[in-house]
Amino acid sequence: MMEQSQLPLVYDYEPSANHILKEVLVGLSKSQKSLPPKLLYDQRGSELFEDICRLPEYYPTRTEHEILRTRAPEMAEFIGPNALIIEPGSGSGEKIRHLLKELPAPTGYVPVEISREILLRMTEELHDEFPDLTVLPVCADFTQELELPLSVDAQVGKKIVFFPGSTIGNLSPAEALAFLRKFGKLVGTGGGLLIGVDLKKDPETFRLAYDDPAGVTATFNLNLLERLNREAAAAFDLQNFQHTAFYNEAEGRVEMHLVSSVDQLVRVNQTVFRFKEGETIHTENSYKYTTDEFCELGAKAKFKIKKFWTDAAELFCVYYFVRE
Ligand code: AVJ
Repeated sequence: MMEQSQLPLVYDYEPSANHILKEVLVGLSKSQKSLPPKLLYDQRGSELFEDICRLPEYYPTRTEHEILRTRAPEMAEFIGPNALIIEPGSGSGEKIRHLLKELPAPTGYVPVEISREILLRMTEELHDEFPDLTVLPVCADFTQELELPLSVDAQVGKKIVFFPGSTIGNLSPAEALAFLRKFGKLVGTGGGLLIGVDLKKDPETFRLAYDDPAGVTATFNLNLLERLNREAAAAFDLQNFQHTAFYNEAEGRVEMHLVSSVDQLVRVNQTVFRFKEGETIHTENSYKYTTDEFCELGAKAKFKIKKFWTDAAELFCVYYFVRE
């Protein structure tokens, strides 16, 4: 802890508790109640997500790792030397390591992460593992703030956004497009985007991955309410909500909800919300794309596809685009 707090952050925009409350009140006031999925990732939520990633049913993490591990040399060749790699939502930085091992003389690595604690820990670890690498950590909610500090923006070299984990799937296709356009502005003409996206497949594989028999995903989803009880002065009774997840084929997305099992009133700070029995809080969407669909989305944001890599079972895909 002591050592961590001595490490400098290039920029610190960690959101305040007040900001979280506002987003919660807005989401719970909608006719289909919803909460922003990013709120799932507090300290405990991030730990639970790591547990999810180790579940036999949750294929995305393992599969993407495998693709990155085996194809990183080829990816590094596409990217080339003097690259400044920017990773929005870097977490513990497990995936970038595959690339860092192969990249020829990168200018630097810019992890952007909402949790200051996780960011500082990973920065320290990377310093140990890659002593020659310039790491420029930025603490920020990348869904709000994607402008890089000037000290980072002024770095020479071609800018590459690395966005693994199918995080883009949390956004609707329209929002995803807006996001890709933001990435495009960030990297500029000739810059790159290396992005991991989950593929469309049979609904049963999705159901098992998002409603695992061990109940880890259920705990992960319910942890959101515990977090609100602590950080948004809420009074959710966790006994009265249940996790559910299913593939919405028409929308091409997995939906995660918390179902109210009774008629109830729940106070959140100064506001009381009414839940009918069976009413849900929509906590996450996870959109799935065929390779054609995703390449088309990229093209709309002026990203030209250079190459994509999938696993043998075609569960997951990593794309490399260059901004025109
Ligand atoms: C981190 C958003 C990619 O959608 O698969 C995993 C989150 N939610 N299990 C996903 C998640 C439930 C995950 N993403």
